[in-house]
Amino acid sequence: MNRKIDRILTSKPTLEGAGVHLLRAFGYNEVPKLDPFLLLDDFHSHNPADYIAGFPWHPHRGIETVTYMLEGFVEHGDSMGNKGVILPGDLQWMTAGSGIIHQEMPKGHNGNMWGFQLWVNLPSTHKMMEPRYREVKKEQIPAVTIDKNVEIRVICGNFGGTKGPVRDIIVDPEYLDITMAKGAEFEHSIKRGYRAFAYVIEGIGYFDTDKEKSISNEHLVLFKDGDKVKITAGERKLRFLLVSGKPLDEPVAWAGPIVMNTQEELDLAFREYRNGTFIKNKDTK
Ligand code: CO
Repeated sequence: MNRKIDRILTSKPTLEGAGVHLLRAFGYNEVPKLDPFLLLDDFHSHNPADYIAGFPWHPHRGIETVTYMLEGFVEHGDSMGNKGVILPGDLQWMTAGSGIIHQEMPKGHNGNMWGFQLWVNLPSTHKMMEPRYREVKKEQIPAVTIDKNVEIRVICGNFGGTKGPVRDIIVDPEYLDITMAKGAEFEHSIKRGYRAFAYVIEGIGYFDTDKEKSISNEHLVLFKDGDKVKITAGERKLRFLLVSGKPLDEPVAWAGPIVMNTQEELDLAFREYRNGTFIKNKDTK
């Protein structure tokens, strides 16, 4: 059965970090509609004043943050001495688990910056897991082409036997970056019961078989349950992120960069942050 559109969300201008102007596709107010996903931010600007203040030192616990860059780059550093740069086409899948303290500083290229950050929730059994990083370079992400008019970059998940480089993630996610020529059609199976959404980056397309409503960039399509999605590109090239994962169906207690199951766990996290006992694994790589 083809999945139908449950709802369409329009990304909203949001101020975050030390003064970064971004577009938020979904976040705190949408819980639990996108479970196991918590937030998706679209950083897209041609003006360094929108993003240069960045995201100075802040903690995370209980979640994973997934940063995917299209233009410009992000300098990343954490309290354990890890350092890196996320370049165009690269992705960082960071599992905060029990806790990391990091900074993320976007840098433009000729003033341009474009990237996405997705927050993936962790189940209660894994919220305090050891933190870890998956640094994926552009070249490590396989691309599958179908009939010369659909290209799929497989970041996470399994597309027709091609496995993405990001593996062993708790909510069994799939993260695909799909580009379709105008008028092209694409069908893809998604496990029944899994949450699935598409975020349009470029162009216009139809995201169900009714084709009643065309969806353009800076819009998110949340799918109803079913076995597969059917997507048709409009009169222009269409590019979108297609993401799915297993819902956790657990209580969400969320304050800023920390997402736990209960208020007590949140209180403890902020108390530990204040008294210097937040970091549990000093030698995380
Ligand atoms: Co962060």
